[in-house]
Amino acid sequence: MGNQTETPGLDLGARPLTGSTAVDITSGIDLAEISDGDLERLKRLASQWCVVVLRNQKQPPSQLSGLGARIGTVSYTPGLIQNTDWPNVYKLVNYGKKRAITEKWHTDGAFSERPAAYSVLMADTLPLAGGDTIFVNQYAAYDALSPAFRKLLQGLHAEHVWKGVAHLRDGEPDPMAIHPLVRTHPLTGRRALYINVLSAMGNIVGMDEAESRALLTFLHDHSIAIDRTYRHRWLPGDVLLWDNRCSLHAAAHDFGDEERIMYRIVTEGERPYDEPYGDA
Ligand code: SIN
Repeated sequence: MGNQTETPGLDLGARPLTGSTAVDITSGIDLAEISDGDLERLKRLASQWCVVVLRNQKQPPSQLSGLGARIGTVSYTPGLIQNTDWPNVYKLVNYGKKRAITEKWHTDGAFSERPAAYSVLMADTLPLAGGDTIFVNQYAAYDALSPAFRKLLQGLHAEHVWKGVAHLRDGEPDPMAIHPLVRTHPLTGRRALYINVLSAMGNIVGMDEAESRALLTFLHDHSIAIDRTYRHRWLPGDVLLWDNRCSLHAAAHDFGDEERIMYRIVTEGERPYDEPYGDA
């Protein structure tokens, strides 16, 4: 029988949930009372495994900002309707499948100069079945590229733009930023592919539209390999912490008009960078 309690070398009784992506915390940590040391351990696990799963949490959503402020700087997402009065805590509700913007593979806030580092998502009201959130590991996507392809990506940057959200906040231009296609994670030192849902990406700097689409489409399709995913089936009391710098995620909208309410915060990361290549 497999080890159901603790995996040697992993803090907080973390247990891998797939071969490369996501760990489950088995030590019964309560986020509402977590120490600074354990919070740092959780962040490190999220940066190593992309996603951390915490069960049976009692943390009220009204206190998510406080938790977020201990993780980093809680940031707002342009264009997303907040639906709460708590600082930068977003209540995500079911606006119907046509408006389910989170159903495509994405990383939070890529159109910002300093995109999201961590996201925290808490289940409030769940459909009878479905509404899973799926993650994919972008370290592993980078590692799976051939050395020749990795070399091709060296130094390439792409435009990230969230088109058409300006109407949600009067007068704001579409948020836009330019980031490297490969980024080095500041905590783990590992390289990860950094792309977003293709509709929120413009051209690769120095390439025309056809060239950019071809390369970005390849990177997108390459990224979402099934053996690098983790699919989270939500239960009441679940909280997920993930690191957007090394993962993509998508929420399956397979629950029709049923209610699904989640609370989310994101913390601001650093400006993405790729360290100089000694090797490839
Ligand atoms: C998100 O994309 O940030 C939310 C995902 C979800 O609702 O499961």
